[in-house]
Amino acid sequence: MNYSKFGKKFTKSNAISQLMDDLGKANHSNNSNIIMLGGGNPALIPEASECFIAELSELINSSKATQMIGLYDAPQGNEAFINALVDMFNKHYPWELRASNIALTNGSQSSFFSLFNLLAGEMPDGSQKKILFPLAPEYVGYADQGLSDKMFSSVKPEITLLDNKQFKYQIDFDALHIDKSIAAICVSRPTNPTGNVITDQELAKLDQLAQQHQIPLIIDNAYGLPFPAAVYTDAELSWNQNTILCLSLSKLGLPGLRTGIVIANDNIIHALRQISGIMTLAPNGVGSTLLTRMVKNDELLPLCHTIIKPYYQQKAMVAIELFKQIFADLPVYLHKLEGAFFMWLWFKDMGVNSDTLYQQLKQQDVYIISGSNFFMGIDDAWEHQYQCIRINYAKDKEELKKGLEIIRNTICKSS
Ligand SMILES: Cc1ncc(COP(=O)(O)O)c(C=O)c1O
Repeated sequence: MNYSKFGKKFTKSNAISQLMDDLGKANHSNNSNIIMLGGGNPALIPEASECFIAELSELINSSKATQMIGLYDAPQGNEAFINALVDMFNKHYPWELRASNIALTNGSQSSFFSLFNLLAGEMPDGSQKKILFPLAPEYVGYADQGLSDKMFSSVKPEITLLDNKQFKYQIDFDALHIDKSIAAICVSRPTNPTGNVITDQELAKLDQLAQQHQIPLIIDNAYGLPFPAAVYTDAELSWNQNTILCLSLSKLGLPGLRTGIVIANDNIIHALRQISGIMTLAPNGVGSTLLTRMVKNDELLPLCHTIIKPYYQQKAMVAIELFKQIFADLPVYLHKLEGAFFMWLWFKDMGVNSDTLYQQLKQQDVYIISGSNFFMGIDDAWEHQYQCIRINYAKDKEELKKGLEIIRNTICKSS
């Protein structure tokens, strides 16, 4: 078939589609030996899902159900939910939001598609602009979202070694060059894949740089505050008219509802509303209708603080314990677990290639994600990007332990 440029770009085989294919097949196979440590699915936390299911039962038996399935919302998203969010954020943060500061989307992934292509790519004057990721490695889901080629650039991190064979990536501000070709800065906080939470100081510095260069700062808050609040360090959430804060209902345990939330100045929200009208008519109204009552009655944040965050934090402690036991005598390093639910292991100077390791583990029914997928725009010669893997640790302890032991045995055999 003779596809358009768009068609060619969006249908060509890429590493991540291949990987998602593998993970999808493994998830749906009947093989009970599979150890699934790849993928970014949130855990099914019993108390949280019971709470959402109870809410859904109430909703189905109310008059709101007919509206939810029978009416389009406006392109900006469900008004009642937007108003409830405005009140909730204004109650907890001094941001003075109005309804014109919030747009809903069909999930963060689609928020980023609209935002990146709104701000970067081919400009009316013929120039080309990019989105800058100030701290590689960064969320792989951004990689292929550009309608134009070469829409992203990223910067290698500073690596600080910590006690107990842990390490932390930090933004190398000396290497962060912002010129006229940069349309916006974007960072996930907590970061997928590493579990890093960039510090308040780093964020303030990025904010200052963005304002100085009159470009927006996009913060991907999919795992962050105030919901689902998978943040285990001291970190503040900030917003101003130059910040585009992206949230999602997915990591609360509701990825099937495909609901993203963007908080930004009126102009950006107006632009997203226009794009949404063209692309989807209106975003999905199920997630917003389901959570409106809980947000209005201030029940969502307590659920995050009493159930969801402690669940992931406890899993993080188990992951650290297992890491210490299993890799004690090897030069394997763990990125400090500050948020989200991923372990990022670095096989330092061990001659391990993470793409090869991925294949070797797949042969043994263990699925992880090779780190090389997360270094978009970093030059191929930097060996660090082939020395790391991402593991989803929000699992049963025995399954995680077995998987980590197989990883250990495999690297020991091949290095
Ligand atoms: C950092 C990050 N941002 C955005 C997304 C997309 O989330 P969703 O489209 O489900 O809202 C994900 C999903 O895993 C993610 O990890």
